[in-house]
Amino acid sequence: MKKLEIIGGKKISGTISISGSKNATLPILASTILTNKKIIIENVPLVKDVETMAELLSNMGSNLKFDKKKKKITIINEKKLKTFAPYHSLKTMRAGILVLGPLLAKFKVAKVSLPGGCAIGSRPVDIHLDALKKMGAKIKIKDGYIHASVQKNLKGCTIKFPKISVGATENILIAACFAQGITKLRNCALEPEIGDLINFLKKLGCNIHRTGKRSINVTGVEKLNSAVHKVIFDRIEAGTYIIAAALTKGRLKIKNIIPKIILTEINFLVKMGVKIIKKKNYIIVNRLKNLKKIDISTKPYPGFPTDLQAQIMVLMTMAKGVSTIKENIFENRFMHVSELRRMGAKIKINNNKATIFGMSKLNGAELMATDLRASVCLVLAGLVPSNKTILNRIYHLDRGYEKIEKKLSRCGAHIKRLN
Ligand code: UD1
Repeated sequence: MKKLEIIGGKKISGTISISGSKNATLPILASTILTNKKIIIENVPLVKDVETMAELLSNMGSNLKFDKKKKKITIINEKKLKTFAPYHSLKTMRAGILVLGPLLAKFKVAKVSLPGGCAIGSRPVDIHLDALKKMGAKIKIKDGYIHASVQKNLKGCTIKFPKISVGATENILIAACFAQGITKLRNCALEPEIGDLINFLKKLGCNIHRTGKRSINVTGVEKLNSAVHKVIFDRIEAGTYIIAAALTKGRLKIKNIIPKIILTEINFLVKMGVKIIKKKNYIIVNRLKNLKKIDISTKPYPGFPTDLQAQIMVLMTMAKGVSTIKENIFENRFMHVSELRRMGAKIKINNNKATIFGMSKLNGAELMATDLRASVCLVLAGLVPSNKTILNRIYHLDRGYEKIEKKLSRCGAHIKRLN
């Protein structure tokens, strides 16, 4: 099994170019089920989850070409797609559930595996299913599969999501594009990746209007156009590399981003003592001062992202004073803590609150990755001590970080992949 070997103690300095967002690419790919016109998606990140989604669509019958050199996916759905998404596609990539809405909207029937269990929490899909039922779908769960059908078309209606959910907002937004009449979505998630999905769907000819902060109205259409779309940057990857530079006292230019999209993260890091110069399409990170303690609660966008919680925890272990993190999105998202403790970090957990005692001296160790963001947090921790860290189970990392060891080693890290 593949591992990473890291010998820390080196400054991360230089320039890193941020890839396209995985969390934007996946719903955009799922939404291509709606159309049989030519679609070109650019700036696609070369990560495993995107490959898994591309395979799922190909297996359904989509004529999909992934040009990895150009980071471009071209799709033409010439024939009717199969309306089945098997367990093996959804067990590692929960975003596979995003094919449910478009399959049902376009073909009136779908059989989609319930997504696999997940280390970070139970992650149900009841909000997705309740919304589709309200739009007229009949849904049964049998043998681990969602069997969904609708007689004629999904019907527009008002859907107030009981909880802010990124996945449910995306699934229902896509389905509503082919529903009859107007679907009024309320209490929607506002993540920038949803904005990117909306921009893509509008290029296809979908009729979507944001009518308030968390309100979106979608008027169903019958036909769609072809489109070319460049995926938005990966804000979590950007945040991860800001933290890498801050941890190692490096000077790092992070380019191909839109800084105003990650203002919350930037402001928290500046409060901790990280110097960040913001330009239009890049930032420069420079840590000169000692780090200060901070208290963070994860929240839906524009709050602090749960996907950056594990990474900022590593920075907190270096800060002066006692920092806290309240994880409000997932009940079990502190899987990285036991591994950080093995490196010497002092962290207490009480339900969804972590207390991080700063000024820890981290030591290299052999570690086990448990999920995507936990893995990258351990890579970051490994950049600090000057002895060796081995990170096992890096398939989690490969789900969402493009060429991480190359990007870091070009900026001075000693990091290599062992087979
Ligand atoms: C979530 C994160 C997203 C992150 C992704 C991967 C939020 C709001 N969402 O998106 O930023 O990129 O994980 O780590 O930060 N829920 C239900 N029933 C449902 C759907 C969700 O109870 O049908 C609950 C979840 O358990 C969770 C909350 O709602 O507590 C938000 O979940 P949701 O946004 O749907 O999760 P993802 O789309 O996976």
